[in-house]
Amino acid sequence: TEKNTKKILLLPGDGIGPEVFGPVRDILEHLVTSGHVRLEWEEGLIGGIATDRTGLPLPPDTIEKADRCDAVLLGAVGGPKYDALPYEKRPERALLGIREHLGAFANLRPARLFPELAGSSTLKPEIISDLDLMVVRELTGGIYFGKPRGIVTDQGVRRGINTETYTEPEIARIMRVAFDLARTRRKKVTSVDKANVLESSVLWREVAVSVHKEYPDVELSHMYVDNAAMQLVRNPKQFDVLVTGNLFGDILSDEAAQLTGSIGMLASASIGGKTGLYEPIHGSAPDIAGKDIANPLAMILSLALLFRYSLQREDLAGVLEQSVQNVLKEGYRTTDIQGAGTKKIVGTREMGSLVFHE
Ligand code: NAI
Ligand code: MG
Repeated sequence: TEKNTKKILLLPGDGIGPEVFGPVRDILEHLVTSGHVRLEWEEGLIGGIATDRTGLPLPPDTIEKADRCDAVLLGAVGGPKYDALPYEKRPERALLGIREHLGAFANLRPARLFPELAGSSTLKPEIISDLDLMVVRELTGGIYFGKPRGIVTDQGVRRGINTETYTEPEIARIMRVAFDLARTRRKKVTSVDKANVLESSVLWREVAVSVHKEYPDVELSHMYVDNAAMQLVRNPKQFDVLVTGNLFGDILSDEAAQLTGSIGMLASASIGGKTGLYEPIHGSAPDIAGKDIANPLAMILSLALLFRYSLQREDLAGVLEQSVQNVLKEGYRTTDIQGAGTKKIVGTREMGSLVFHE
């Protein structure tokens, strides 16, 4: 391996994961053979397919490969075939496992409306035109990891337990990610919590205020999560960067995603550790898997984020995002984004090759 050659790990996973990876490989081949980037990649198993072949959803081999790479690109995991498995063997366990292993504590979900798709949102065009917000979700703490957890039986009554917990350093580092991002955008951070009820949120708010002192050029405001859920559909353009904990972020980022139309368009980046993890926000879509109709654009836009945040290649990220926009402008649509402006419905492979040939 030459110095300066970056290495990435491809983890297609289950369902439509392998389908939407087709275009990704073509784009990588093209960028490498045309000399735009020095890059090598290898492939690994994750999710149900990994359980099928190795007995584990996140095999040690995949972890080792991830450790020697500069970034990981993941498709999706899961499917009805695996729903009856115990939690430790479930494909979804691998998602938490790899995020935790990579230390990728900051999940970035850009929700940006491509103007060509304004008609495919359920919201009025004037509410969402030019929408461009970023949800920053804390990904490795909070109630998804807090202890104690479990189901206990207490005097014959079963009780389910989860614990919301955040330490000051965990809050401070996610705040810095949000403020740094805001500096590259419109310099506004909204921190979302439930400080009127939860002590973990009281601390969240205090730490937000104290880290903000390092960023006097960025505006900070606070919002309770229930109000934030409402404001996101009432007037989403008031937001630039929204920063919040794991559970609230899971919910609000899906809500923000829907503003822009289709789940098939939205990418995410999980950063903060040694190695960044990039994935579309959609799942394995078993209902459409194997039919060559899945939208590959979320996957391609995830590759763009990989170029931006892990390889510091803003130029290539921009090229990919622009060619996605051009293809939409020309009227090509997968079925999930058809609507006003559609000239031709295309499948996964054709959509991928259109972006690739831009
Ligand atoms: P899903 O995101 O897979 O599908 C929801 C709906 O959106 C389906 O109707 C699907 O056909 C459609 N859809 C999703 N991606 C699309 C694309 N690229 N193009 C066109 N349409 C698309 O979520 P669902 O149905 O709740 O979960 C299915 C499986 O995926 C489950 O096993 C779930 O646990 C897993 N899952 C995995 C995730 C991941 O790997 N990050 C995230 C969410 C769910
Ligand atoms: Mg979710």
